[in-house]
Amino acid sequence: MILIKLGGSVITDKSQFKKFDNERAKRLCREIAESGKPVIIVHGAGSFGHVLAKKYSIQNGLVNRDQIPAAAQVHHDAMELGLLMTQTLINSGIPAASVAPGSCFVMEDGRIVPDNLEAIKSLYDMGIMPVTFGDVVMDRVNGFGIVSGDQMMEIMADIYKPERVIFVSDIDGLYTANPKTNPDAELIPEFDTETLKDVSSESNVDDVTGGVRGKMEAMLRICDEGRDCVLVNGTVPGRLLSLLRGEDVVCTVARM
Ligand code: IPE
Repeated sequence: MILIKLGGSVITDKSQFKKFDNERAKRLCREIAESGKPVIIVHGAGSFGHVLAKKYSIQNGLVNRDQIPAAAQVHHDAMELGLLMTQTLINSGIPAASVAPGSCFVMEDGRIVPDNLEAIKSLYDMGIMPVTFGDVVMDRVNGFGIVSGDQMMEIMADIYKPERVIFVSDIDGLYTANPKTNPDAELIPEFDTETLKDVSSESNVDDVTGGVRGKMEAMLRICDEGRDCVLVNGTVPGRLLSLLRGEDVVCTVARM
């Protein structure tokens, strides 16, 4: 089984509040279906989550009651994106069910704790892909917090032990600096804990969950004996499909 995260930057237009990129999501789901590989998908929130979450500091937990309507709205918007994604998967021939992380996990001071995994496990056993996503989740200590799609990837990797893990983003891979602002930035085809030390910690300011470096750290945590973790550009048609077919593509691979 291959675990795939479709980043918010590929399935939404991050510059426009709550703008689903229907065409791109459709194409990526078609590529996954065409590969014929068994997969589990996690997705990010993109402009359905980060804009409002940042404005009301939802990731810092409950500090004032004005955040409560915003937390409810961010959760609602994340679920709306979840439904758009599962409809796209079903239309591509992949039976899928959107599962809000808060229905099977809680948080304990920012740490994700399984609460009731029966529903996602039985969906999977039945051949319906449980699709989780970045969302607002209740926290026993902080009231609430944000669980990112990357954190869900770690949890799903733990539960399902995939043979490969793929992060689909809007960049070709990991760069020595931010390729969007620095023309000297170079693509790193492969990295491990040592190489990560030289990577700029500059992150996307609209992102409440850590930006590119945070993703790389999560990727390394997910790597295991015989399991690599790949970052690939989903804005380039066919690249995800080639990767799923085992072909050589432009990407960054994290290894233990
Ligand atoms: C963010 O999830 C969740 C919310 C802000 C509600 P992610 O951090 O996984 O989303 P992307 O992939 O960066 O958009």
